[in-house]
Amino acid sequence: MPLRDSPCIEFPIGDRGQAGTDVARIAVIGCGHVGLVVASSFAALGHQVVGIDTNTRRIGELRRGECWLKEPGLEALLHSELASGRLSFLDEYPERLDAEFAFIAVGTPSSAGGASDLRALHEALNKVAPALPPNAVIVNKSTVPVGTGDLVTALVRAAGAPSLRVVSNPEFLQEGHAVRNFMEPDRIVLGSDDPEAVERTAALYDSLDAPIVRTDIRTAEMIKYASNTFLATKLSFVNEMATICDAVGADISDVSLGMGFDPRIGSKFLNAGIGWGGSCFPKDATALEHTAAMFGAHPQLLRDAIEINRDQRRTVLRKIRGYLGSVEGRRILVLGASFKPDTTDIRDSPALEVANLLHLSGAEVLVYDPEVPAEAILAEHPRLKVADDLIEGARDSDAIVLATEWAVFNDLPLSQLAQVVRTRFIVDGRNVLDPMRVRGAGFSYRCIGRPGVEGPPISSAPQREERALAREHASTAAGG
Ligand code: UDX
Repeated sequence: MPLRDSPCIEFPIGDRGQAGTDVARIAVIGCGHVGLVVASSFAALGHQVVGIDTNTRRIGELRRGECWLKEPGLEALLHSELASGRLSFLDEYPERLDAEFAFIAVGTPSSAGGASDLRALHEALNKVAPALPPNAVIVNKSTVPVGTGDLVTALVRAAGAPSLRVVSNPEFLQEGHAVRNFMEPDRIVLGSDDPEAVERTAALYDSLDAPIVRTDIRTAEMIKYASNTFLATKLSFVNEMATICDAVGADISDVSLGMGFDPRIGSKFLNAGIGWGGSCFPKDATALEHTAAMFGAHPQLLRDAIEINRDQRRTVLRKIRGYLGSVEGRRILVLGASFKPDTTDIRDSPALEVANLLHLSGAEVLVYDPEVPAEAILAEHPRLKVADDLIEGARDSDAIVLATEWAVFNDLPLSQLAQVVRTRFIVDGRNVLDPMRVRGAGFSYRCIGRPGVEGPPISSAPQREERALAREHASTAAGG
């Protein structure tokens, strides 16, 4: 859950409904990350919204204006919309739901084997469909495997509500920018075989200035997966380029800079590092791989992007082995636990995967994160240790690994750290530190795809270690 609520985000909203025109009655099913942002934002656009979630504690908090989700601008929206009376919450499904639209925003986590777990979606539809008036539109915002729209239609029919209409309206919210993403969308995608339902749904967004892509349900579902996996693939491509830079002596930061000026490429999502994670990219990449295979397609590039991402975590291990010879028995401090900065979300966090990898390779690993509570890390990763103080965490360490680029890490107290560590060695897994400053404080420096700034070359003994690791990796891969 992202941090740093900023009350000062302003959007040109609210007057439409207040002026009494085209106010819609909307139910949002699921008050998680997507649902809460969607419910609060639709209310701010002037619509009458009820958020429904069976998590009683969460709904109690929301009714009191306590925003469990820290997204810039969200808490302010929650307060203003509760006060306006346009936003309310229910912790159970009512027998009658007087809404023209029911937005489904329930979780669709990965289940074993990479398929999406659709149980929450089934339950929501079973409960909501019979409660809605005829002609209401069920709008699916949950990320669901391509083809699920047909299932939604079938479930709605099975629930005895044949007159309900079904639209797919995928969400592209980025953690830490979710309210802005809703209010200033790059595009709105609406998929349905029911043109009237599409136009009614499009009208909800009338006051936003965004292109609307109207298409069929499967294509809408596919747009969501293609967008996320394209970005993930772009990152895996950059990380592969970083590996090549390491080999040939080029600098990936300058390569990305040089590539990014080409508008066909774009400068965003070109930062090399230890790879991508979070609640969406890994889940969506494996779900699409799974769906493609089910339909007999061979998603080769997607598989490679996933594999490169997995390998990218090992880069840190290779760098440490290259320098220290072995990680076994070494004490290593990993900086960062969240999957990206400015969030406490640790789902599929590259930082924690690196920490676990080091632990499994025999290191004693401590994790330090400026915001993620220790209990949250230990609940999911009980084998790891958590440091609640940076300097104490670094005491007697043989390596410090920067794994999540929190802004506070840009100004690491290097001279203090130099006094307490056993070995002055930093691996910058996000290429954010100033190599001159790090080396100036007496540390050896390793990073991703920038061999020219790393300092003295790796000695021949660690290179033997690298080869041993490559063999070990090859045999693991061969063993599946
Ligand atoms: C992503 C999509 O951006 C969003 O559109 C979709 O709706 C949900 O998934 P989010 O999970 O919030 O959003 O994360 P994002 O900011 O996109 O970052 C994803 C991962 O890529 C993170 O682990 C991040 O560290 C990594 N990343 C991003 C890089 O490694 N380098 C970059 O240049 C950018």
